[in-house]
Amino acid sequence: MAGIEVEEWPARIASTALRLVDHQANMQMELALGKAPDTLPLDTITVIHVGNALRMDWNEIVPESDATIIMGNPPFIGMSWMSKEQQADNRHVFAPISAAKGLRTGRLDYVACWYAKAAELVTLRPQSRVAFVSTNSITQGEQARTMVPLLAGMGCEVDFGHRTFKWTSEAPGAAAVHCVIVGFSSTQRPNKRHRLFSYPRITGQPIETVPDRLNFYLFDGADYVPVKLTKPLIEGMPNAHKGSQPTDGGHLLLDEAAMREAVQIPEVAPYVKRFVQARDMLQGSPLRWCLWLVDAQPQHLRHPFIRQRLDQVSESRLKSPTVSVQEYAAKPALFTQNRQPEGSYFALPEVSSENRRWIPGQFYDTDVIAGNKLIIFPNAEPWHAALLQSSMFMAWVETFAGRLESRYSLAPGLAYFPIPWPELDQRAQQQLADRFEQVADARAVYPDATLADLYDPAAMPSQLIDAHTALDRTVDKAFGAAALLRSNDERLALIFERNNTP
Ligand SMILES: C[S@@+](CC[C@H](N)C(=O)[O-])C[C@H]1O[C@@H](n2cnc3c(N)ncnc32)[C@H](O)[C@@H]1O
Repeated sequence: MAGIEVEEWPARIASTALRLVDHQANMQMELALGKAPDTLPLDTITVIHVGNALRMDWNEIVPESDATIIMGNPPFIGMSWMSKEQQADNRHVFAPISAAKGLRTGRLDYVACWYAKAAELVTLRPQSRVAFVSTNSITQGEQARTMVPLLAGMGCEVDFGHRTFKWTSEAPGAAAVHCVIVGFSSTQRPNKRHRLFSYPRITGQPIETVPDRLNFYLFDGADYVPVKLTKPLIEGMPNAHKGSQPTDGGHLLLDEAAMREAVQIPEVAPYVKRFVQARDMLQGSPLRWCLWLVDAQPQHLRHPFIRQRLDQVSESRLKSPTVSVQEYAAKPALFTQNRQPEGSYFALPEVSSENRRWIPGQFYDTDVIAGNKLIIFPNAEPWHAALLQSSMFMAWVETFAGRLESRYSLAPGLAYFPIPWPELDQRAQQQLADRFEQVADARAVYPDATLADLYDPAAMPSQLIDAHTALDRTVDKAFGAAALLRSNDERLALIFERNNTP
């Protein structure tokens, strides 16, 4: 047996713990059989190597065997929190691995380096088995998109998995972590039996199932990875993209006082429009406006109220390191990106907290200018909005969308375009539209509450939860479920089923 730990003290604690367990096991053996093996000298029991596991040759350290068992609880450190040394470890581990070429391994959690080292050992010792505790993000979103082809390319496949459970350390102040355990081995290893442990309550006991297949997302299914798309997979669904980007140093935007002044000036008033970013949509106040000067008359642009602001926009754009922004210094009346739709649109925040059960969105008229922190769905109809406000959408987003730290990124390439929505006839569309209206009505009961208030899990009004549940029931059925599904896991299983059924 061998272990690796970079810190001296944890290494000693691990050695001591192993000795204690060994001793306890021997006492039990003695009770049962009347005889226990001699454990002296102590040094022969175990070796915990002190050092950086990612810079060691595991084939040298781990005693020779065809069927090595590698298990561990490697450090959980997201890409953006990794130190320079840890980033260098990542490059050191992945550089020699040919299956990693072309994959975005630099964006993986630190823990992924242990997967890669273990998979390398598996290629040398094909009867070996591996299992790592990891944060559940490794089995989701962009990380899973990299891990699936990486492990497959290294000749490995998932054997067993513990789906998300909550690990609360007893250490004072320690944060609870949402963990998974992924067990894998060589595709060559015969007689595999897949075991899947699901936690209906993430703090409770798991339920074991024995699926035919098991993918890296820890679902019964083939190793499906959604392809990033640039338009909806399903015809008839609306397009989606970011809103318009001002890059204006704040000078085209108006607070309430500036707006009040502007609407008094006849030359300026027609160009004053509401401006909404994700924060404005979710938090409500203070409201913001902007000067939307796309079709402005040149003589109006010379009005001092506008003129002064345009000079400031030019000045701030010239200071930008980005050449395309500098070029827009010559067109200060325009946002650097104008993606405002001609008709009404549905909007979702580009990034949303992972704590919300549903990510709230809202319809706006073309007169309200959508900022670049919104994802907008031009010409969306209420039944489209119903789909986007469903738990089915959330199940997809939780598993496949990218993340910014732990928050969801709704960039449509992964979070929306590849969703295999079911075909819906007019009756079903109407039913969904009605459900969406019920959600809107339930929100309207509390006109002073913002979307952030209404969708805070602790504050969400019961009528709103009920309206969403009714909406979920309709969407679940549209996806082929017999009744309301109990969890987003069940919803995802249905999505996998649809994808694996030709
Ligand atoms: C999540 S803790 C697990 C601790 C212990 N093995 C357990 O299961 O409770 C991760 C451990 O990895 C150690 N560690 C961090 N970076 C390491 C590296 N590059 N090589 C070896 N160990 C490392 C940390 O010091 C820490 O003790």
